[in-house]
Amino acid sequence: MKQLRIISVVGARPNFMKIAPFAHELALHPDRFEHILVHTGQHYDKAMSEQFFETLNIPRPDVDLGIGSGSHAEQVGRTMIAFEKVLQERKPDWVVVVGDVNATCACSITAAKERVKVAHIEAGLRSFDMTMPEEINRLVTDRLSDLLLTPDEISDANLLREGTPAAKIKRVGNIMIDTLDRNRVAAGRLDLKTVLSANNIGSADPASALNGFAVLTLHRPSNVDDGHKLKTLVSLFLELSRELPLVWTLHPRTRKQLEVSGLWKSVSESGRIILVQPLDYLEMLKLNMEAKAVITDSGGLQEESCVLGTPCITMRDNTERPVTLLENGGTSQLTGSVPDKIRHAFNRALSVQRKPFRPPLWDGHTAARIVDILSAQ
Ligand code: UD1
Repeated sequence: MKQLRIISVVGARPNFMKIAPFAHELALHPDRFEHILVHTGQHYDKAMSEQFFETLNIPRPDVDLGIGSGSHAEQVGRTMIAFEKVLQERKPDWVVVVGDVNATCACSITAAKERVKVAHIEAGLRSFDMTMPEEINRLVTDRLSDLLLTPDEISDANLLREGTPAAKIKRVGNIMIDTLDRNRVAAGRLDLKTVLSANNIGSADPASALNGFAVLTLHRPSNVDDGHKLKTLVSLFLELSRELPLVWTLHPRTRKQLEVSGLWKSVSESGRIILVQPLDYLEMLKLNMEAKAVITDSGGLQEESCVLGTPCITMRDNTERPVTLLENGGTSQLTGSVPDKIRHAFNRALSVQRKPFRPPLWDGHTAARIVDILSAQ
């Protein structure tokens, strides 16, 4: 059998937990695959990138494009220019992209133009919200992909409705759950107090969270970039934290916005909101396993909360991951950024038991299915 040369791409934090199981699975079959890992460098801080390579034991990238921060056009444009050279030098059989970040879109366009086949892990997700840059990235990537590896039936239906040939669609399950299953024992062993103390960047005492807490994460420009809106949300979080302490893990964008909007002091000095720097994968998993609720605008956390059974208050008007919603058996509830809806969902979350839910094929074996499919191409 001919050895396939595969270039896989990571760029930003949510990509790392998706590529780890794929890289490990490819490494089990050196006779069948040569794997070249490319990091575009969209996320570059130790806390946003490097620590995930260490914790998840991802091989060092073979190529680092060093793209860094910038506008969307700058990130996508610089990535395409740099990735084109990589493709011309390395001549892979396949480019494998994951998720929906700018790196995903930039590298799939470049590969399609170089006539290299593209496989997309996490294909078919749709929020139907064209104001989200991720939705544009998903649509472009899926349209250009030769192999669409989907997490669930709803994603298959989205692709079929768009006219994607059925033969290109393979339902493989959710690769992030491979990572979750592989790491939950190690996460469970971490000591909560140590995690909070080691990452605390505010002035609240982490010990206040040891009798119960909710986790808060926000990073979408639609929630954090408008100072007025952020101020309203911060008032609400201060109110909720009087009922139950909040552990707020701060994305760099959100931290900056709290500082420039003059909100940092009131949050930090409230004593009930514990501000922590971006956590490593195991630390975040530990918090999710212990939290009474998660309040978030992230995509991946909706999925992890669903499998762990943590009530998830999703501060968005829509989701590309409807399989995780309460009405479909999951734990996620959409509230947008409407204070009354968030308050209501928060109170509900505090009154219910953890209820884990695994959609079909979210079984920890997604990477193995993907590698089998690639082998057969
Ligand atoms: C990106 C993804 C988003 C994903 C998120 C997870 C796109 C379109 N968006 O958004 O889907 O949910 O990552 O984090 O690709 N910064 C640092 N250090 C870093 C990286 C970024 O300080 O290592 C700061 C920079 O000031 C930057 C800002 O964070 O301007 C935002 O980073 P960016 O890569 O533009 O997108 P995210 O908002 O992180």
